[in-house]
Amino acid sequence: MGATNQRAQWNSKLGFILAAAGSAVGLGNIWRFPYVTQENGGGIFVLLYLVAVVFIGLPVMLAELTIGRHTQRNPVGAFKKISPRWKFVGLLGVATGAGILSYYSVVAGWTVGYIIKSATGDLDPKGFGAFLGNAPLQISYLILFLGLTGFVVARGVKDGIERMAKLLMPLLLLMMIGLIIRGLTLPTAAEGLKYFLMPDIDGLSGKTVLYAIGQAFYSLSLGMGAMITYGAYIGKKDNLATSALAVVSFDTLIAILAGFLIFPVIGHSLEKGGAGLVFVTMIEQFNQIPQGQWIALAFFLLLAVAALTSTVSLLEVVTAYFIDEWKFSRLKSVIIVCIVTGLLGIPSALSLGAVSGLSDIVGGKGFLDLMDFLIGNVSLCIGALLTCIFLVYRWGIGNAAEEVIASAPSFKPYVQIWRVLLGGIVPLAILSLIVYMAVTGGSL
Ligand code: TRP
Repeated sequence: MGATNQRAQWNSKLGFILAAAGSAVGLGNIWRFPYVTQENGGGIFVLLYLVAVVFIGLPVMLAELTIGRHTQRNPVGAFKKISPRWKFVGLLGVATGAGILSYYSVVAGWTVGYIIKSATGDLDPKGFGAFLGNAPLQISYLILFLGLTGFVVARGVKDGIERMAKLLMPLLLLMMIGLIIRGLTLPTAAEGLKYFLMPDIDGLSGKTVLYAIGQAFYSLSLGMGAMITYGAYIGKKDNLATSALAVVSFDTLIAILAGFLIFPVIGHSLEKGGAGLVFVTMIEQFNQIPQGQWIALAFFLLLAVAALTSTVSLLEVVTAYFIDEWKFSRLKSVIIVCIVTGLLGIPSALSLGAVSGLSDIVGGKGFLDLMDFLIGNVSLCIGALLTCIFLVYRWGIGNAAEEVIASAPSFKPYVQIWRVLLGGIVPLAILSLIVYMAVTGGSL
């Protein structure tokens, strides 16, 4: 560390891709994607999702990585370095990161609870309500998961985050493939897969399109500077365009594989969906499979691994901010952020049964759901919108393209498409999303 503020860097491009894919691959892929698909007409939603990923997710991913690599700063420092007046976008991102971390760690904590339930053979689908209503348990799992996250982040970019990703991401893929193979042999497989894969044109509506876009941002960890933060550790020689493509492809692959994992298992129980899909319906099914307990164990382990690589990235965004802008040491920064987000997470942890006043704040939404809506949806959309506008109309597409082309000459022919997408198509899509959310107040 010198006066020039020497930055940490990934050991390798692969290390970065695994870490960024780890950020993107999370509960959003394995828990949220299947149930949002189910609530939005199955195959037709999957198709729209893929379109949204290519035309909206990919250009914004490249935008964030480019801003990060160019400035080598946390989101606040990054915007400030290019244009001090735009610092607020970075601040919004950091605040959003802390907010998501607080309630995401609650759901992540459930996966640990269910790992223990699976291991001890205590898998009762009706137990979910009692589990959620148990305040000490909910808070303990929240603290446990944040502690685990803090442990990884405190060890730094290379020795903590990158090492964890190199270990856990291959493991995640292996567990997933194993579980898919087991699921495909079940009698319910054909019915479930048909629903997942056959697009039914009647399911097409404006709402489905908007849900697909919202899911793409969420799943790819866009709109809050997570990819700016990870992009800041990319070496100047690494190809940004292929990196963005690799991360987006990996995340999409895992989402699709999650469909191949979940739908064959739930088969004809498709009507029993929603947020309880994983913790209730899946358990009902596991209980009917011989040795289902151990399949459940692998499944919740998979969810926990996916969640951990995401909470690590959320914590890193806020930590990097305090390290860069407040000159805190990494350890001090991690401890402070964990304590604050832990406290912020408590109302979420208690909002699903433990404290009745927190379970219906407005319109039937409890505290956790409200956080997910305002921070996990609205704030991400606003962040992504401002990032696009900043890149095209303030920093300038030429400057941004220069940063990309420096290490990826073959990107040249795509600059114009990138400009049209970031400067027009994506902002329009996001604006319609925001209007939709404002009008319906409905979570995406
Ligand atoms: N992409 C994560 C998932 O699919 C959730 C998420 C949204 C996220 N924004 C993030 C994770 C920012 C890390 C950083 O579960």
